[in-house]
Amino acid sequence: MKSILKWILILKSLAAVYSLEPFTIFAAGSAVTSLFIATVSIFNNRREPPSPSSSSSPPPTPLPPPTRDDECSEEYFKDGISYLKQDLDTNVFGQDFAIELIAYVVRSHFNIKYPQAPLVMSFHGPTGTGKNHVSKRVAETLFKNGIHSKFVHHKIATKEYIRNTKHSLTEFKTELSDFIEKKSKLCERSLFIIDEVESMPEGLTDVLTPFLDYHDKVGDQDYRKSIFIFLSSVGADMLIDRFVNHYKNEKTRETVPLKDMANLIPTIAYNSPGGFKNSKIISKALISAYVPFLPLERKHVKQCAEKELRKCNAEFNNFTTESIANQLIYDPNNYYSTQGCKTIPSKVGIYC
Ligand SMILES: *[C@@H]1O[C@H](CO)[C@@H](O)[C@H](O)[C@H]1NC(C)=O
Repeated sequence: MKSILKWILILKSLAAVYSLEPFTIFAAGSAVTSLFIATVSIFNNRREPPSPSSSSSPPPTPLPPPTRDDECSEEYFKDGISYLKQDLDTNVFGQDFAIELIAYVVRSHFNIKYPQAPLVMSFHGPTGTGKNHVSKRVAETLFKNGIHSKFVHHKIATKEYIRNTKHSLTEFKTELSDFIEKKSKLCERSLFIIDEVESMPEGLTDVLTPFLDYHDKVGDQDYRKSIFIFLSSVGADMLIDRFVNHYKNEKTRETVPLKDMANLIPTIAYNSPGGFKNSKIISKALISAYVPFLPLERKHVKQCAEKELRKCNAEFNNFTTESIANQLIYDPNNYYSTQGCKTIPSKVGIYC
């Protein structure tokens, strides 16, 4: 774009030298410009953002001090970020890789004063492995009212889209897009949690593209400080298979090649039925981190039970947690709990 300006300047100076009619200069200028744009669009795969304001990026202007609410203040966020990792370490079991990755990307997103795009994380894994739990912890650390904060927004696909057969995809798209637009106005660091993406209609996530892309602004709104978390079971089969294969030989989860597994997720997601199928948010690489959650072993189930027991001040010993763990279902090899920690709270109640 700078080159266009340069061209126009050159043309203007030529005009000055040869004292041409203003219209001639304009025509020549636009011809050169369109040629330039045409050439660029041939060689540049990246789609031009739809908003007119994104053609050039002036230096970002400093934001006014937050006045809307204490919760939506950089000071408050800074505080939360400083103990996010610790919070996840103490509240989440068996997901060291996920914790490390999430704490890292969240921290770096908040460290950058003017991020180029929102932070978009996608959590993948079998039921009960802590995807929902972790997203709640992120909400709890960043917002005073946690998951109930008016800046934290939760969409559950099965509730919104599966049981709702009255509406068309276009209506869902409009609703979702309006929802993001409206809620983002409340705080520029809004947290959107989109749950059960595998149950979203195919094509719906495409409507999120302008919000997640590297735009200065969409309309008059800046989305680059927001956080989006997608939750899904997409890729769970792959994660279980690879975990079991590895565990069979090594008997430890510490050496599971999680990075390689995470790299497989986008392709699997792009080809699996649901909201990620053929999704532009995958093909345009708008997801910053694909986070794999491993199946949980019996020892983690016991840790979950222990935490729940402490929560209700129950007296317990090893026998208590053992008998709770016995009530869960494990895979035929007894490597992992098929429901993770999901049913633990309902089993613990009796001891409270
Ligand atoms: C708890 O009980 C189980 C089964 O009886 C036993 O294998 C395990 O070593 C015990 N753990 C502790 C910490 O006492």
